[in-house]
Amino acid sequence: LPNEVLNRTSFHFQPQRNWLNDPNAPMYYKGFYHLFYQYNPLAPEFSRKIIWGHSVSQDMVNWIQLQPALFPSQSFDRNSCWSGSATILPDGKPVILYTGLDEPDRHQVTVLAEPKDVSDPLLREWVKPKHNPVMLPPDDVPYYCFRDPTTAWQGQDGRWRVLIGAKHKDTERGMAILYHSDDFIQWTSHPFPLLSSQVKEMWECLDFFPVSLTGKEGVETSVNNASVKHVLKVSFEEKIGGKDCYVIGTYSSETEQFSADSEITNTSADLRYDYGMFYASKAFFDSAKNRRINWGWVVETDSKEDHFQKGWAGLMSLPREMWVDRSGKRLMQWPIEEINHLRTRHVTSDRRHFESGSRFEILGITAAQADVEVTFDLPVLEDNPQTLNSDKVEDKLLFNRDNSDGCLYGPFGLLALVSQDLSEQTAIFFKIIRCGNGYAVIMGSDEQKSSLRDNVHKFTHGTFLDIDPRHEMISLRCLVDHSIIESYGAGGRNVITSRVYPKLAIGEAAKLYVFNDGTKGVTMSSMEAWSMRNAQINSNAI
Ligand code: FRU
Repeated sequence: LPNEVLNRTSFHFQPQRNWLNDPNAPMYYKGFYHLFYQYNPLAPEFSRKIIWGHSVSQDMVNWIQLQPALFPSQSFDRNSCWSGSATILPDGKPVILYTGLDEPDRHQVTVLAEPKDVSDPLLREWVKPKHNPVMLPPDDVPYYCFRDPTTAWQGQDGRWRVLIGAKHKDTERGMAILYHSDDFIQWTSHPFPLLSSQVKEMWECLDFFPVSLTGKEGVETSVNNASVKHVLKVSFEEKIGGKDCYVIGTYSSETEQFSADSEITNTSADLRYDYGMFYASKAFFDSAKNRRINWGWVVETDSKEDHFQKGWAGLMSLPREMWVDRSGKRLMQWPIEEINHLRTRHVTSDRRHFESGSRFEILGITAAQADVEVTFDLPVLEDNPQTLNSDKVEDKLLFNRDNSDGCLYGPFGLLALVSQDLSEQTAIFFKIIRCGNGYAVIMGSDEQKSSLRDNVHKFTHGTFLDIDPRHEMISLRCLVDHSIIESYGAGGRNVITSRVYPKLAIGEAAKLYVFNDGTKGVTMSSMEAWSMRNAQINSNAI
């Protein structure tokens, strides 16, 4: 079947065939970006022998697939090479710590791997030196809950630190176990975890890195001074995909205290990188352009039978630049600038008023493969609106575009991957509701009408957009790529990624609209949209 019918993407990272999950060890080395990933090369399903796929790129848009970097070869990783991270040592040499599943019982251990030849910028071959494994699960941690080493960092004393995700045997609390080392080989565990929580759930795929308080530029993972704060991210697995939740705080390597400004609760109170399908992400410092970039795994939400019919399952998100906003309280994200090089045919629209119930088609671009930016201007909102006496509304209703309880404005926004007869469409929308003594803006991505096909999960993703609609305009950028829509609200303050599998709204038949279904009019102050070119992704292996 043609790619169009299979909803295959054109500019998102994925292998040619079979199964992909977590991104691993992203790094920049000698002129190349490297991306490794959890890979089953034999079938489009997770398996009991996962290996590390490996691709390289000079722009993080076009990728060349290399031979797998890590695969089971020794007793300590005979049953899989699970997730891990890279650390660039002070002499420039990269090393990897990853999770080995040993034989015979699949105990999770930490393994060190080094490049066979540091003069090869493609880092094609990796060796596992003796002294492996370098860490075993401690006594108070079950053997199946000890994994996903982070990038290591050096404290002020020059010693290395790394975090391993775990769950406590008795309390079942998730935790970030801290290890120290002088030589990267002998690791000793610290008497207490860097962070733990009340939540009785395994902490997967931790990430821990500094962010600058003075600007957008990224900082190297070992940097720690008064002008940085630290981010700790935890991945919570769910039936389909999971959630990447984070806290921001202050870290001292002297006391090994991380004081987080909030708690990790695995509830809707948590800050999340992405309020849609986005999981097990991993950030790295790009020393070529001094920025921090995050990659996440975007799962399929169609069925296992579909995965076999397509021959593939799993995507990476676009690489996202990450920095902390001026308040120091939340992260901002934006697709790396290199993605803009794929922009081709361009259309714009002037200011335009949208009466209640109106819509406007964005013509002249390839709507199934597009990048669109739109800004809305609301009429002046009263300063002291009457407080709505509402009980806590369920997320499902709040983020449902058809529910307009308490809505002053909206839903309005974009309709993506729309079929000719409108029977298929995904709404990326905003609603303004009264809240406390002010207003709240809801951003949602509603997949309920995204596909006429059966056996596809259709979510209503959403979140509160952290802006004051009395003083700020509402902006939205959506990157549409056949079966994925990445939506960035308010310049990257909130992100929602949707997976959708249209049957009719494919290829040339797909359409894109601006819409307003609210009871009041709204003004679109600007609109720009581009067709996107295909990226070269893993189509020529070497
Ligand atoms: C997260 C995860 C990791 C593990 C890997 C196995 O998706 O479960 O915790 O290392 O995937 O592929």
